[in-house]
Amino acid sequence: MITLQEPAYAKLNLTLDILGKRPDGYHELRSVMQQIALCDEVEIDVETGEDWSLETDRDDVPTDSTNLAWKAAGVFYQALGKDPQGVTIRIQKRIPSQAGLGGGSADAAAVLKALNRHAGSPFSREELARLGAKVGSDVPFCVWGGTALAEGRGEVLTDLPDMPQCFYCIVMPDFSVSTPALFDKADQAELTYRPDTQAMLDALKEGDLLKVAGNLCNAMEPLAAEDHPDIAAIRTIMEDCGALGTAMTGSGSAVYGIFDAFDMAAMASMTLMEKYQTFLSRNI
Ligand code: C5P
Repeated sequence: MITLQEPAYAKLNLTLDILGKRPDGYHELRSVMQQIALCDEVEIDVETGEDWSLETDRDDVPTDSTNLAWKAAGVFYQALGKDPQGVTIRIQKRIPSQAGLGGGSADAAAVLKALNRHAGSPFSREELARLGAKVGSDVPFCVWGGTALAEGRGEVLTDLPDMPQCFYCIVMPDFSVSTPALFDKADQAELTYRPDTQAMLDALKEGDLLKVAGNLCNAMEPLAAEDHPDIAAIRTIMEDCGALGTAMTGSGSAVYGIFDAFDMAAMASMTLMEKYQTFLSRNI
């Protein structure tokens, strides 16, 4: 038996635009995404000689074949055309679930990366991201990492200049938002709050943190905020604490603020932690 270890990094959507509904039921997206240091720890035993299994330290995470990490191992070995003779996955969770932080997708991407390395890297980064798309729409970016533009369903990735150094305060409210329900809502609504993606790309090219922070925008946010006033309230508190910009990530419900000084991000976290779960993070 061999044990592999891999960190599973969360993601933030700096911009998220919905361009339309596709014939396959998914939505055509355009999103500038950023990988951050907040991570789960993934451990994989291969060649266990036993049935596949998955363990986590959190009750709200599935421990069967519906877990994206389990699916990723299945997709990987199917593509490799090899039987791993037993896989056990252990996930130490830190990334909150149903937050828009890509927690499950990050775990899946970590499995793909660890198994690929163990197999002698038969798949390139592009090929591994393509395998990730079979597991979920955010998995390709989680394989890709850094700062990237995600298009299509989320699987068409273009590297972008690194996000300038900054600190994030991430706040998880005590409610979650259903991703499919929010996309359904987007289909019924006319989206008027939409990012200027080109301005964000220019800001990254210029390495201008203030401009990046000023262009944070998530087209799904008003749809979630309609039912959840906490989203706007959290943003206001972070702005009062000196955030350069704030937004909801993905389909929520987590909200983040960008700060240029650690002390200010920490102060925002301390202010909000009485009521919410908070995390401090940085770019990876
Ligand atoms: O691909 P994934 O399983 O992560 O997607 C979860 C849900 O999010 C889908 O069932 C779909 O409702 C929605 N989705 C979408 N368009 C995308 C990505 C996700 O409609 N590009």
